[in-house]
Formats: sequence, structure tokens, C-alpha cells
Amino acid sequence: MFAPKQLMVLCLLVISVAVCQEIVLPQESPEYWFRLGEEELSRRQETVRNKREKAKNVILFIGDGMGLASVTAARIHRGQMEKRHNNQDPLSWEKFPIAGLVKTYCLNEHVTDSSASATAFLSGSKVNAHTLGIDGTIAKNHCNVSREGHELESIASMAIKLGLSVGVVTTTSVTHATPAALYAHTASRWVQSDYDAQKLNLTDCIDTAAQLIDHFPGNQFKVILGGGRQKMTPNTTKDEEVDGAFGERLDKRNLVDEWRSKAGKRSYVWNRQQLLDVDFDNTDYLMGLFEQEHFSFELKNDTSNPKLSEMTAAAIRILQKNEKGYLLLVEGGVIDLALHQNYAKFAITEVLAMEKAVETARKMTNRDDTLVIVTADHSHTLTMPGYMSRNISIFGSKIQEWGKLDDLPNPALVFANGPSALRHTNGTETIQRLNLSTVDTEDLYFRQPAFIPLIEETHGGEDVGIWADGPEARLFTGTMENTFIAHAIACALCLNERMCKYCKYDDLADVIKGHDANANADHCSRQELLLLLTTAFTIGSFVILLIMFVMKITQLRQ
Ligand SMILES: *[C@@H]1O[C@H](CO)[C@@H](O)[C@H](O)[C@H]1NC(C)=O
Ligand SMILES: *[C@@H]1O[C@H](CO)[C@@H](O)[C@H](O)[C@H]1NC(C)=O
Ligand SMILES: *[C@@H]1O[C@H](CO)[C@@H](O)[C@H](O)[C@H]1NC(C)=O
Ligand SMILES: *[C@@H]1O[C@H](CO)[C@@H](O)[C@H](O)[C@H]1NC(C)=O
Ligand SMILES: *[C@@H]1O[C@H](CO)[C@@H](O)[C@H](O)[C@H]1NC(C)=O
Ligand SMILES: *[C@@H]1O[C@H](CO)[C@@H](O)[C@H](O)[C@H]1NC(C)=O
Ligand SMILES: *[C@@H]1O[C@H](CO)[C@@H](O)[C@H](O)[C@H]1NC(C)=O
Ligand SMILES: [Zn+2]
Repeated sequence: MFAPKQLMVLCLLVISVAVCQEIVLPQESPEYWFRLGEEELSRRQETVRNKREKAKNVILFIGDGMGLASVTAARIHRGQMEKRHNNQDPLSWEKFPIAGLVKTYCLNEHVTDSSASATAFLSGSKVNAHTLGIDGTIAKNHCNVSREGHELESIASMAIKLGLSVGVVTTTSVTHATPAALYAHTASRWVQSDYDAQKLNLTDCIDTAAQLIDHFPGNQFKVILGGGRQKMTPNTTKDEEVDGAFGERLDKRNLVDEWRSKAGKRSYVWNRQQLLDVDFDNTDYLMGLFEQEHFSFELKNDTSNPKLSEMTAAAIRILQKNEKGYLLLVEGGVIDLALHQNYAKFAITEVLAMEKAVETARKMTNRDDTLVIVTADHSHTLTMPGYMSRNISIFGSKIQEWGKLDDLPNPALVFANGPSALRHTNGTETIQRLNLSTVDTEDLYFRQPAFIPLIEETHGGEDVGIWADGPEARLFTGTMENTFIAHAIACALCLNERMCKYCKYDDLADVIKGHDANANADHCSRQELLLLLTTAFTIGSFVILLIMFVMKITQLRQ
């Protein structure tokens, strides 16, 4: 039998071992990296599931234009901002057990635009750039040919037909390329209102705003949150409720009012406070249009707009009311707009805003029944060159000694093209670039030029990352076509037998919500085990002490 004193010492010892786990080691020490490896190993063992499971809900996050360089830069920026030993802790989705690579090219271009890409990952077919929800036989702008037999069905449409709820959240206009690929069918993504149709001489195109409100499946969406008020409201009346601005529709339709007067318990909001105050118990359909067009950048600190994470939370609260499940698309839409302007800091901050939204979504949902996927529709031309010291800001620059040919500082981040290149002049004239028609670009020793000046930086064509967690996350590993994402989601939710043969012959009842209790038993992590042991030991010791105390008192009485 232990004496009370010995027991106390033992208790303290166990507690201090538990506390020691938290001590931060310097990064120079191999132990730091070994410990990181151990943590990652236990996280993976705990989370990778290799058997088929049916998902009840799917949340798909799209970072518009979020190439791998912007993900890496975001991770570095967060570490530098928080001054946490300048470490590269994983972003919320980098903790997911599954990652892969996605080929983003569209039918006719190596480098896709957002509409062809979104059509691919939401409907499962490669199509022509700038088209939405129609197959590759129809060319861009050809709204004057019949779409009969050429419309592609999106996973949103399939989900609604099976009784699931569907929602869309974005920081761009809700009529913009990525959200529109959920519900629209058109040969021009740029026709978002009838005014656009007139302006672009594409009057045969049905605008995406009208498709959202009038047509299936958009007219069944439970949640629509983003910007784009002006695409939905007439140019004849000022929106007195909000900012007194005119809409742009010429057909005099107020699509917001039309949406509000449809059947069902509906809430319409246009600022952050209203969104936070929504009576969720009494709302089945939620629409929030917070901007005339796109949201301003997170770093501009406009407090009247909700954060992406707040919109995501509101969407989940509405969608999770459906026992049958839901499909939610969340787009970090203005990452792309910042990159097009060579604004790395704005863009990276938007990536971090989406990081918070992913974290929120994962916290609000159960990983046993909700599959969360994070990816991008395409990359940009951002890259991270050189051998920058880790104590230099990711937005900074420094003269590098290695291989230097001039005394100018090298930036930690550069773009291959864009408006910033226009500043590469001596102040009076633009420096004439090499005329590529005069040289043999196939020559072995030809050097590819960089820093191409353009009004707008362009998308990039290399693969983007994809991260997944939850039932059927395992499907998102390796290198895949972006079209496969639609197939895999259709399979995870068993939406469509043509896309997912095994949904046809399997009785899904026994795979619903996936794994059994046994599978969970060995999922206990090292930390959890340690905590459990410490708690058990402490409680045990006190019980023994108590018994000894009682025995002593009994002895004394006798
Ligand atoms: C259809 O529209 C496209 C694009 O605007 C145009 O090039 C083509 O000539 C049109 N075809 C007809 C038959 O009007
Ligand atoms: C549209 O058509 C009008 C008249 O035919 C022409 O003046 C205008 O330039 C065209 N606009 C575009 C964007 O093609
Ligand atoms: C609305 O559009 C019509 C037709 O293009 C135009 O005549 C009118 O000036 C516009 N109104 C406003 C307020 O812009
Ligand atoms: C927004 O707030 C951040 C953090 O406080 C600050 O760094 C940034 O300059 C602000 N943006 C503007 C446009 O003032
Ligand atoms: C950054 O690190 C380098 C060595 O990698 C060192 O020479 C330099 O003094 C450091 N700069 C700052 C500002 O700490
Ligand atoms: C800019 O370049 C032009 C053409 O090479 C030259 O004539 C001019 O002097 C330069 N200006 C400066 C400020 O260097
Ligand atoms: C580029 O070179 C081609 C072939 O020599 C010539 O036709 C063209 O005019 C040149 N372009 C410019 C902008 O100098
Ligand atoms: Zn773009």
C-alpha cells in the first residue's frame, strides 16, 4: 500500500508529464520536428478511413483562384502575424487526412476561367470557357442555338430531386460564375442581368439572375448569401431600404421582391447585423444580398458585411434542419479579384478568411456524417521564388547575395504577369519587351520571359490542391480531373446512379453514417489517452486517500 505522501508525489508527477507536452521546443532542435511528425502520425491514424461510408451532408469550399502558392503564403503570413515562432502550422483544411491534386483545364483552354471550371466540378463535364451548365458542343456566346439536350445537370439539381436542401454562399455576386454553375445554363457567364445582355449584344442569353429566381434548381435553394443586388433589381427604382442606389435591370423586375413573396418562411437581409439577428427557427429560406456587386476585401474592414465564416454558419443553421441532408457550396470569391490586381496581401487575407469559414463549418458539423471538401477552381500566376530568410515578411523583399546580377531587392512573392508589371519602367517609358516573333522559342537555350505587363493578371494552369474530411473523403486522393469532384460528391451522397454505379446495387441502409463503434475504439489519440490516464489516476488516488481516511477514523472510534 502507498502512503498518502507517496501518492501525492505520484499524482504531481503524472500531472507534470501531461503539462510538459505543451512545452514549446525551438525549431533548431530535431526533437521539435520529431514531435511534429508524431502528432501528424497520430492525427492521420485517427482520421483516415478506408471503408465506404455514405455522407448525409456535403460542404464544398472553393477558393476562387486559390493556387498552391497562395495557400503556402497564407500559412506563412498567419505564422508571421501571430509571431508564433514563425511556424507553419497547418491551415484548418490542411489538418484534413486526405489531400490530392486537381487538373483544372477546360475543354478548349489549358487555363480555365471560373465558369467552365465550376461547371466541371459541379456537373461532371469539361466545357468551353465562359459557358455555364451546357455541354462542350455549344461555344461561348452562342445563346442563339438550342440548348435542348445540351444542358448539364448539376449536383444541386440532383440533390434537390432527392429531397436534400441546397445552399450557396459567396463573397462575389450570387450571379457570378462559381455560384451560377450550380443553377444556370447559358453560353455566356457574363450575362448576369438583362442589362448585361443588352450591353454585350447577347440578347438571346437568359441572364443568370433570372435563372436563379425563375428556374429549377435555383428557385428551390434554401440559402442564397452573397453580393449582386444590382443584378436583381430594376434601374427605375432606388433601393431606399439599403443605400438608395439604383439596380440595373431593364425589365423592371425586382427579383428580390419576387423571391420574398414566394411560399414558405423566408428571410431577406442585406447587412451583417440583420444576418446575425435572423430568426432561424422561423426561417426555411434565407437570402442575403449584402453588396451591389462583390464584397470589398476583408482587409478594407467594411463592418457592414458579414464575414464568410458568419455566412457559412448561418447557412448551416438553415440547411441542417433537413433530416435528409444538404449540399452547401461556399466560395471565397474575391481571392481571385485581388490576385487579378496583383494584390497579394488582399488575396492572402481572403484565403485566411476562408480558413476561418472552413474551421467554423467543421466545428458545427459531425465528421461522421458531413463530408467537407476544400479546393480551388484554378490557380493564378503567383509564385514564391528565391531563398528568402524566414524572418523576412512574406510580402517583403531583400537583396539576395546568391547569384545576383544587380543590387535590387528580390520580392518574396511575384506574379508572372499583371498590372504591376507596368511599373517596371524607368518612369518615362515602358521598357520594350523581347519580340517573341523574332526568336526561336523552341530553341533549347531560349529563356522564358517573365513579368509580362497586362491590364489584369491571369489565371494559372497548373494543378490545384484538394483537401477532404468526412465520409468518402478517401475518394479525393491522388491526381484527379476537376470533373471527378462532381462524381465523387454524387457518390458520397448517392445522388445519381449513372455517376455512381455502386449506389444502385448496394443497400445503403447499412453504410449510412458509416462506421460502427468498434472502428471508433482505436481512434483515441495519444493526448486523449494521457488525459484519460491522468484523470483516472488522480480520481483513483483521491478515492484511496478517502478510504484510508475513513478507515483511520473508524480505527480511532474503535
Ligand atoms: C449566334 O451568335 C454568335 C455569337 O454572338 C454569332 O457569332 C453567330 O453569328 C450567331 N448565329 C446566328 C445564326 O445568328
Ligand atoms: C453591339 O451592337 C451595337 C450596334 O450593333 C454596336 O454599336 C456595339 O459596338 C456592339 N457592342 C458590342 C459589345 O459588341
Ligand atoms: C434605365 O434604363 C433605361 C433604358 O436603358 C434608361 O433609359 C434609363 O435612363 C435608365 N435609368 C437609370 C436611372 O439609369
Ligand atoms: C484594416 O485593419 C487592419 C488590421 O487592423 C489594418 O492593418 C488595415 O490597414 C485596415 N485597413 C484599412 C483599409 O484601413
Ligand atoms: C534574419 O536572419 C538572418 C539569418 O538567416 C540574419 O542574418 C538577420 O540578421 C536576421 N534579421 C533580422 C531582422 O532578424
Ligand atoms: C528612361 O529611358 C529612356 C530610354 O532609354 C531614356 O532616354 C531616359 O533618359 C530614361 N530616364 C531615366 C530617368 O532614366
Ligand atoms: C515582331 O516581329 C515580327 C516579325 O519580325 C514583326 O512582324 C512585328 O511587327 C514585330 N512586332 C513589334 C511590336 O515590333
Ligand atoms: Zn478570375
